[in-house]
Formats: sequence, C-alpha cells, structure tokens
Amino acid sequence: MNDPNGPFFHKGVYHLFYQYNPVAPEWGNMSWGHATSTDLLHWHEQDVALPFSATKDIFSGTVVVDTHNTSGLGTPDNPPLVALYTSVFKQGAPRAPGVQAQSLAYSLDDGRTWKPCQKDPVLTLSPDSLHFRDPGVFWYAPGGYWVMTTVVANAPVVKLYKSSNLTDWTFLSDFGPAGFVRSGMLWEMPSLFPLPLDGNPAQQKWVLMLGVNPWGIAGGSGSLYFVGSFDGTTFRPEGLPPKGSDPAAHDWLDHGADHYAAIPFAGLPDNTPLTIGWMGNWDYAAQVPTSPWKGQMTLPMDMALRTIDGRPQLCLEPDRHYMALVAARPALSFDGLQLSSGRHLLPDRARGQVMDIDMSMHMHGADRAGIFVRATADGRIGTSIAYDMKKHVLVIDRSHSGLTDFSPKFSQEHIVNMPAPTGEVSLHVIVDRNSVEVLSRNGSVVITDLVFPPADADRIMAFSENGMTEFRHMKITLLDRDQE
Ligand code: FRU
Repeated sequence: MNDPNGPFFHKGVYHLFYQYNPVAPEWGNMSWGHATSTDLLHWHEQDVALPFSATKDIFSGTVVVDTHNTSGLGTPDNPPLVALYTSVFKQGAPRAPGVQAQSLAYSLDDGRTWKPCQKDPVLTLSPDSLHFRDPGVFWYAPGGYWVMTTVVANAPVVKLYKSSNLTDWTFLSDFGPAGFVRSGMLWEMPSLFPLPLDGNPAQQKWVLMLGVNPWGIAGGSGSLYFVGSFDGTTFRPEGLPPKGSDPAAHDWLDHGADHYAAIPFAGLPDNTPLTIGWMGNWDYAAQVPTSPWKGQMTLPMDMALRTIDGRPQLCLEPDRHYMALVAARPALSFDGLQLSSGRHLLPDRARGQVMDIDMSMHMHGADRAGIFVRATADGRIGTSIAYDMKKHVLVIDRSHSGLTDFSPKFSQEHIVNMPAPTGEVSLHVIVDRNSVEVLSRNGSVVITDLVFPPADADRIMAFSENGMTEFRHMKITLLDRDQE
C-alpha cells in the first residue's frame, strides 16, 4: 500500500481505502484497497473497492458522505457515499495513455460495493495533463457547496473547484507555487480544512496540507502545511517565510522520513479533525525489507492548531482510541532515574517490540541525553532519540537501527529545531515492530521513522552524555499483541 484514500466514518465504522496493488507487493496496478475498523486500531481487510482495469488505474482521492443526496445518486433515505478519485488512463481508453483526470464512483450499501458514474471522467484539465490528480473534497458549509482541491503535481500548483452535485465542477482558483519549492518538486495529496486556533471557534483558520516529493525535510517525500484563510474561492497563506528561506523555516507536519500523503477523515460526528498518513518514503518504498507486504500507515492522529512560538502550528496527538488502549494496560514506571554520563539498560520487565513511552527528562549539564529504543542489551543495535542541548535540536538517529543497507537513500539522522531553555524535554514515543513515532512540544514536533530491527532488539536504554540527566518521568506501557 501507499497513500491513504478517502478515510471516513459512517454508522459507527471507520473506513480506510488505500493505494493498493492487488497482484504483487510492489507499486503498480493501482487500485483502492479497503479496510474497516471500529477503533482505528484493529482493522479488517475488505474486498478491493475500486479495482484497476484494462483501461485505467485508480489513483488517490476522497470519499464523502453525501448526506443530503446532492448528487442524486442515492435517495434522501439512503444517501450515497461518493468517491472522487484520479483515473490514469491506459492504452485503449478514450483518452491518451497516462492522462490523469478525476472520476466518481458511489456506494449505496455502506461502502461494500461501488458503481462508476455514467459521466467519466467528471473533471478534466484542458489541455489533458499527465499530472492532474489527488482530489480532496469537502462540504463548504458557508457557501453551501462542495470544494475540491487537486494538484497539477509538476507545476506545482493546487487547483480548487466547486460543485453543487459532486459531478459538475467549476474552477475556483489556483494556489502556488508557494512557500518552499525547488526545481523538480512535485506537490501531491492536497487537503484543505478549517481548525479553531487554540480551541477558540471564533478564531478559525484554514490549513492546506500537501505532500512534496522530492525535497521533503528528511529527504525524499515529506509533508508540508500552510496556515491561512479561505473565503470560499481562494486560499491565502499567512506568515510565509521569506523566499529562499531554509527548509526548516517552513511548516512541516513531520520531521521524520516516513509520513506522507496524510489526509483528514470525513464524516466524523463531532468534527474532531483526525488524520492518517502513509508511513513510507518514495526514496526507498520499493526496497523496504518487509515480507510478504510493503507499505504501512501511521497511527491515526487528532489534529489541533495551537499558537506556539507566536505562530499557529499544526499539532498531532494519537487519537483517543489509542490513548484508551494505553490507559487500559498496566504501566511500568521508572521515574527519577539519574544518570551522570553513561548508559542505563532498563530491566527485563520493560522488554517488548511494541510499546508506548511517556517521558520527561531534565538535563543538568549534559550535552545530549535520551533513549535508545528497539535496542539490544549490548547496545549495538538501537534507534536513538536524543535532545542536543548545544544545538537545541531533537535528533532521531536510525543508523544502527537494524537493517539499513537495503537502500542508499535510507536516510539516517532526522533533526528538528526545538527550544528547551530549562533543559526539560518531554517526549511521547510510540514504538512498533517497524516504526518509531516521536511527539513533543504539544504535538507540534513529530518525527515518524521506519526502522527494521531484529526481533530480539526489544530493550530500552537511557543515556546521558558529558553531564547529568534526571529522567524525572518514564512510563512504559507494553503493547505487544500477546498482552491483549
Ligand atoms: C502520492 C501519489 C499520488 C498518486 C498515488 C499513486 O504518494 O504519487 O500523487 O495519486 O501516489 O499511487
């Protein structure tokens, strides 16, 4: 799998579609796979929802719940689910091979089966484009119409359209190129959504989230966002860093290598904005040493917009189902550990491949301190999560994380600027069989990285360099499946 497609909540069930090859564990024959869940943690694979065919591949897109049957494809009693996706035409199709355009399919049985719309495609670019894709659709309540964001990936430009029936679309405006752009950079998977600033509904801002590839902050593909306003026609970003600024001056959803194509869920009852991303990177996605699958998703995360360092920042937090799963398990506490230069292996009872770590450390003179996760007892293997007091950065180093040589592009160190003037650093770390997700500073700092350690790398080690660190709080909750 790669991108998440059309995630939505409907009648108590979360649905997730995804870019999927039904015939091989490699990219190709793109189709929409389908999985459902009631808790966003345990997923059930369903039949392929939108299969590739002789005349087209099915690229990314959105599903909306057409509650008022604006499309007329259902009935007021049984409103349709409507998928907008990108068709990539092949030899023998009515359009030239490689042309990309937006198509529609709908379901009248809660997402089990999907029918194509008679009008196909529903939106084309003129002249035809090989890079026109990834429709993100939402209901714009103030205007009473649907809005679609798409990209001309290689321009790179986001194009906005509107519609009253999801089938006939009219152009609204272009956004971009803007912000951090480099030659050859593609924009993909745009989404536009409102969020209250600091929880205040009177202070609503709009967020435009995008995948960029290459030139992501950690190399290869990465996720950028812009904060601004949307008046129903045009998105206007606020507070863009000056042209030519350092990439780090721009707003990244994640500073790790493996968080791409993130999009919001539709149809959530309380409008709690929830997102999920592909945990991968186009630099090495085809080479990752997993079998018999390739590709995985991030944990679903709640999104919030918070004023941090004087500007609105998009913040992530694992959603409440995950937090409840953690809270329901017994936690191990290792509070108050003091280390003066050196390493400390946590005891056997803290062993596991899957765990939640909630910790804060206070550096009293140490230059660097942190933890190794998925480590072996001899310390030869491990992913290091460290704060550097001299450089004021949080660093994930996966150079000794296990298998790393499957691709020369598997980047090693991921660094994010993060002030910690008092030497106090809090981290929420979610460790899984093939991944490490690190959150800090109220979720405004996120690092998501794939790692490929051996199964016996199941230890945690705390370390402090050139001085004292007090690990004031360290709560570990083991989440391996056999604990269920
Ligand atoms: C992003 C992307 C999309 C496209 C899909 C194809 O990862 O390249 O732009 O729709 O993947 O699988």
